[in-house]
Amino acid sequence: MGLSKTIFANPTEYLVREQPEDPVLFFAPMVLQATARRFLRGFPGLVTYAVKSNPDEMVVANLAAAGIRGYDVASIFEIDLIRRVAPGAAMHYNNPVRSRSEIARAVELGVRSFSVDSHSELAKLQDLVPAGAEIAVRFKLPVNGAAYNFGAKFGATAEKATELLRAARDMGFVASLTFHPGTQCVDPMAWDSYIRTAAQIATDAGVEIARLNVGGGFPSHRLSDVNPELENIFGLIDRVTTEAFGDARPALVCEPGRGLVAESFSLATQVRAIRDDEHVFLNDGVYGGLAELPLIGIIDRVEVRDPAGARRNAPGRARIVFGPTCDSVDRLPGELALPGDMAEGDFVMFHGLGAYSTATVTRFNGFGNFQIVTVMALHG
Ligand SMILES: Cc1ncc(COP(=O)(O)O)c(C=O)c1O
Repeated sequence: MGLSKTIFANPTEYLVREQPEDPVLFFAPMVLQATARRFLRGFPGLVTYAVKSNPDEMVVANLAAAGIRGYDVASIFEIDLIRRVAPGAAMHYNNPVRSRSEIARAVELGVRSFSVDSHSELAKLQDLVPAGAEIAVRFKLPVNGAAYNFGAKFGATAEKATELLRAARDMGFVASLTFHPGTQCVDPMAWDSYIRTAAQIATDAGVEIARLNVGGGFPSHRLSDVNPELENIFGLIDRVTTEAFGDARPALVCEPGRGLVAESFSLATQVRAIRDDEHVFLNDGVYGGLAELPLIGIIDRVEVRDPAGARRNAPGRARIVFGPTCDSVDRLPGELALPGDMAEGDFVMFHGLGAYSTATVTRFNGFGNFQIVTVMALHG
């Protein structure tokens, strides 16, 4: 993946000048910093960033500059990245299953907060992590609202979480609770259920928890006519925490990935072909920057420009869209309404593509050669 050395005013300026044949991810640091400030202003607790969603060093550097002081890390690579780019920041190792050597290395590197969802992993932590560190027990609930269910891989049942919380406290750890409502969670009531259950787990365990981590899952703007109201979710989290815990209200932590980073990147693809005036073939697809679409649904915030930069404005026509590889899975879900006058060589720009895009691009079939280009603004 290449990195441009110049800052452009907007994507169109770059596309017209360079006519790139490979996909380009445009990054607007100002949008990222504004989103970070929105979280810092609105969330009633510590805002941390889930590095996995976009581990680009420029992203971390801009979040640190905007005032983000904590990071959810899932590997030693990510811990090293944060130590290098945001030295002194808090690191929460919230991948609930790790090898012994990873735990030992994380402790050496200064990590003092770990999540856990099983007795076997808690026993490993007891062997390797100094007493006084924070252990956040991750629990799960069968609630809807997210694009897909995280509980299939991680999280203890409420009953097991109660045992783990008590055990962590008895081992001399600072005992906390954590959950993740699932990514792109558009129903704020998911947080309501999780927070009330957290209070019940703490009561049943007889443990006053130090912190409650309400996860990531904050939705990004994927559909033109549904722009999530983050402040409503923040307000609900604040109110329900007080109602559920009363005087034993824990400090709150959140760890958004998508909600922080998605809006600050747009992906520009190019039309390689329109096959018999029917199927559109782009130079990127589900093995590249659009990998998430089959999992969590289409982004319809799409803008099409001709090679001279003029916007295509003809009425939309629903099309099947394929990526560039010689693989039939490489197709965007459903059909996408694209301007009827769209032509080969046009640029198709997807907005809101900062999360789980740069991080998961593959080089399958020799495609996936991205540029990241910095711009002042993503529109225009
Ligand atoms: C433990 C943990 N925290 C936070 C996140 C970020 O989630 P999101 O991007 O939905 O905010 C993830 C994503 O996988 C996660 O596993």
